[in-house]
Amino acid sequence: MAIIRFIPQNVEIEVCSETSVLAAAQKAGLSIATICNGKASCSECRIKIHDGEDNMSPIVFKEKEHLGNLYFITKERLACQTFAVDGVLSVEILRAEIESKRERSRRKALARSKENAKRLAERHAEKKARELPPEPKRVEEPEVVAAASAGAGSGRRRRRRSRQS
Ligand code: FES
Repeated sequence: MAIIRFIPQNVEIEVCSETSVLAAAQKAGLSIATICNGKASCSECRIKIHDGEDNMSPIVFKEKEHLGNLYFITKERLACQTFAVDGVLSVEILRAEIESKRERSRRKALARSKENAKRLAERHAEKKARELPPEPKRVEEPEVVAAASAGAGSGRRRRRRSRQS
């Protein structure tokens, strides 16, 4: 068992030697940019080794194809190809803040589909408004009733007057 420490998040996770730094970060809830998801083909998952170089797996051919001799200059490696073998390995995630290309395209597609749905709903509402006939005008009934009751009252008075005379 080994421990991978993520700097500057100050998160430590205990892993077995078959767990890559990428998998450990994902397990710990930290994001590392990735497109190939651990297949060593995107080169997005770069990390910087801060401490514990003796406790990590050696650089493999796939990694050398992407990074060349970069590790010996900047101490950068691919998180998906780096494994903590023993002891403590301190690493810094270099592309955690950068959105991966896949996530970016997915987010843009989602935003576009939401805009399209909104536009469609607006067009539909406009079309419905055009199709509906205008509302008929209502005749105000209270005035009619009031006039009728006023007339009935006067009729009774007239009848009373005619009987009295
Ligand atoms: S995740 Fe793509 S190269 Fe490591």
